[in-house]
Amino acid sequence: MAEQFTFPKGFWWGAATSATQIEGAAKEGGKGKNIWDQWFDEEPNRFFDGVGPGTTSDFYHQYKDDIARMKNIHFNSFRLSISWSRLIPDGSGEVNQEAVDFYNNVIDEMIDKGVEPFVCLYHFDMPMAMQEMGGWENRAVAEHFGRYASICFDLFGDRVKKWFTHNEPIVPVEGGYMYDFHYPNVVDMKRAAQVGYHTLLSHVFAVKAFREKDRTGGEIGVILNLTPSYPRSSHPADLKASRIADLFFNRSFLDPTVLGEYPQELIDLLGEHGVLPDTESGDKELIKEGKVDLLGVNYYQPRRVKAKENLPNPGAPILPEWFFDHYEMPGRKMNPYRGWEIYPKGVYDIMINLRDNYGNIPSFISENGMGVQDEARFMENGMIQDDYRIEFIQDHLEWLHRAIEEGANAKGYHLWSFIDNWSWMNAYKNRYGYFSVNIDTQERTPKKSAYWITAVHKNNGFEK
Ligand code: NOJ
Repeated sequence: MAEQFTFPKGFWWGAATSATQIEGAAKEGGKGKNIWDQWFDEEPNRFFDGVGPGTTSDFYHQYKDDIARMKNIHFNSFRLSISWSRLIPDGSGEVNQEAVDFYNNVIDEMIDKGVEPFVCLYHFDMPMAMQEMGGWENRAVAEHFGRYASICFDLFGDRVKKWFTHNEPIVPVEGGYMYDFHYPNVVDMKRAAQVGYHTLLSHVFAVKAFREKDRTGGEIGVILNLTPSYPRSSHPADLKASRIADLFFNRSFLDPTVLGEYPQELIDLLGEHGVLPDTESGDKELIKEGKVDLLGVNYYQPRRVKAKENLPNPGAPILPEWFFDHYEMPGRKMNPYRGWEIYPKGVYDIMINLRDNYGNIPSFISENGMGVQDEARFMENGMIQDDYRIEFIQDHLEWLHRAIEEGANAKGYHLWSFIDNWSWMNAYKNRYGYFSVNIDTQERTPKKSAYWITAVHKNNGFEK
């Protein structure tokens, strides 16, 4: 007998994107330079196939047709981000009217087509003028972010009811200050901790600005990449390393944004290693004001942790001795077209953890998805036959459904992503969309998964 997987009434169906990854028009419409424009100017060869952030998927010009596509596949919601350097080219000065017009047009078009805008304020794209002041290393930049957020609430808050301060705030810490995959390519744990701390303060300033005005019907949240940490063995060192991984990569933002405080264990850990960030008196109380209404969860794969001392090859030399990191685990199911582990039960584990330890905060899967290299090879009869993606989504939805049945407060599922898009250093190497994009012609073509998900959206579930 076929089993029914029906989701709660009003479940949010859609997808996520970000400004730099789809808008393109990097030098149009009065946009200021951001760190991606800058890094590409400096080192174009570090980007896959030498493709930079200039055009990406041209949403800036094609947004109307794209929103019509969203309606056709029955999205009821969609996440975009506002580009800080488009709205306020130098990050702290004048507002750019062309950007206001563009985002107004996008928001109005979405609402007109029945697609609710979920808007994120920061998706890895620091304005260059802010970076020149030190970026998140400088507390003043966090304050400028609070002003930018407040301007966004004033401009668009009459229609946008779901706001998110940051997307994956730990990633610029890792990328920019630990592992050299984001600008400014620094490798320094002490500076990384400072950047993480000021990023959290910037979130708090934005939440405070949101709460200070009447935001009837509006909610504010944050989007975190929660990566369940599983020790690779029962060896005590691996258990400890797994706990450190959880503290550093998950709880460093989860605890303060949901519970209003840092875990003491994390403070102790950073203190032990001499990398505690500088703080000001009153910060502890301030952080309590950053508690969110709603949590977005990006989930791709778990982290299988082995302590550094237990690794045959201790990994990247830049990692401090007390650190660890290891993804691959023989015998696990892997995505053969990209190399990440596929572990759908991770969704369930995350949701149950939120239910039990984080007050069952309203949450949703804000990203999940499968990147595929050379995806054009799966083209048959004019369409990419991405059965692997259909299976991937369905397996994750099944576990999400089970968590909901067991009381988890999960309200939606957004895929990464709607259309193929530019993925930072990887540019267009891994394709993620329901629609493929030909980056020479910018033509969009639905993949098989687009048809499959349309039926899921219409039926608010599926049967298996
Ligand atoms: C997470 C990020 O939010 C997004 O920018 C990125 O492209 C996807 N994951 C895919 O790796």
